[in-house]
Amino acid sequence: MLSRTIVQASRSSRALRLTPAKAFASTWANVPAGPPDPILGVTEAFKKDTDSKKINLGVGAYRDEKGKPFVLPSVREAEESIVKAKYDKEYLPITGFGDFTKNAAILAYGKDSKPLQEGRIAITQSISGTGALRIGGAFLERFYPHSKSIYLPTPTWGNHIPIFKDSGLKVEHYRYYDKKTVGLDFNGMKEDIEGLQDKSIVLLHACAHNPTGVDPTKEQWKEIAEIVKKKNHFVFFDMAYQGFASGDIDADAFAPRYFVSQGIPICLSQSFAKNMGLYGERVGAFSIVTESAEEKARVDSQIKILVRPLYSNPPVHGARIAGSILADQKLYQQWLGEVKQMADRIIGMRTALKDLLVNELGSKHNWDHITNQIGMFAFLGISPEQVEQLKTKHHVYLTKDGRISVAGVTPDNVRHLAESLHDVTK
Ligand code: LMR
Repeated sequence: MLSRTIVQASRSSRALRLTPAKAFASTWANVPAGPPDPILGVTEAFKKDTDSKKINLGVGAYRDEKGKPFVLPSVREAEESIVKAKYDKEYLPITGFGDFTKNAAILAYGKDSKPLQEGRIAITQSISGTGALRIGGAFLERFYPHSKSIYLPTPTWGNHIPIFKDSGLKVEHYRYYDKKTVGLDFNGMKEDIEGLQDKSIVLLHACAHNPTGVDPTKEQWKEIAEIVKKKNHFVFFDMAYQGFASGDIDADAFAPRYFVSQGIPICLSQSFAKNMGLYGERVGAFSIVTESAEEKARVDSQIKILVRPLYSNPPVHGARIAGSILADQKLYQQWLGEVKQMADRIIGMRTALKDLLVNELGSKHNWDHITNQIGMFAFLGISPEQVEQLKTKHHVYLTKDGRISVAGVTPDNVRHLAESLHDVTK
């Protein structure tokens, strides 16, 4: 086979000039070059920019007043005791570090949660929020009996779409954001959710909707719950920002807790990347509320069967950190204060940005949405061309959809941001 190919290749005078190795197509010749990631690709472009004024508002990662990554003091303290304790590095169980998952469930559902007290919430540690969504997608694809589609808001976090497609689910959408008001399309959302087939799977962002920063009010959540209940839908809550929306972890968990109190079947993904700043430690959890302790045991067994071939068992270090913070009353209280401090700094930067635009620079646009939206992101309502101009003319980096991570705005760069934004929207 090999020699026949070489003989054939040598018949062509062009091939004669090639070394024998090059006469064969490479194994990967048909692998097309993929586009950069819409969010993480922004950081790659930012790193290449040599201008001193450059600002990275692409990825949602908290920065301190000086624009530096921030390690929470509670995290440092927990980590120091862990290092001192000289724990071994044995494998965790497939579903992770029990002291962490037990407390993660309390954080999400509340200590008075009925299904929690009745021992019917199945929970597993995950590779942060992304991993939790991926386990959930795979579980639903394998076991949800009524549908193989998942309905996501338009727009949604860019990674939701490939996560659920790769899980084998069909990705569909419901209306969420209204371009005209730069706010919630509440009627569109209700109409679409009501129009779905009974028992559909609907994904809801629990709080601090990414990318828009637009959340339903408590009253609106109650109306949505009523429709979901009437239609017997199943809800997948993505809670990546508990604490970041309002600075209050209980207020931010209102929606999932309310849905559970109404007897609506849900599953939930949690991330500790943002609220504990454990980005690179990849700490998260996936949970499902079941009907009974016996059902929970069956669900648990299948989650293990899903996780084992994916990554066997999760990493231990970050879960120990999060677990100690959640379990130790003193550290826990300290952490609550630190989450509030991060949320408040973001809220302060929203006000500063709007003030500069409206009061100092005299922008004629309505920028109220910057302060009305909540969480890590502001959805500016600008065009991809304006986003491009911000990058090329002003060295301000953000995602194409016009989302900025307000967590990257600081007292030092807010003026440059406001002036640049004013310039491209004049
Ligand atoms: C974001 O939306 O920027 C964050 O959730 C980080 C990520 O992984 O995309």
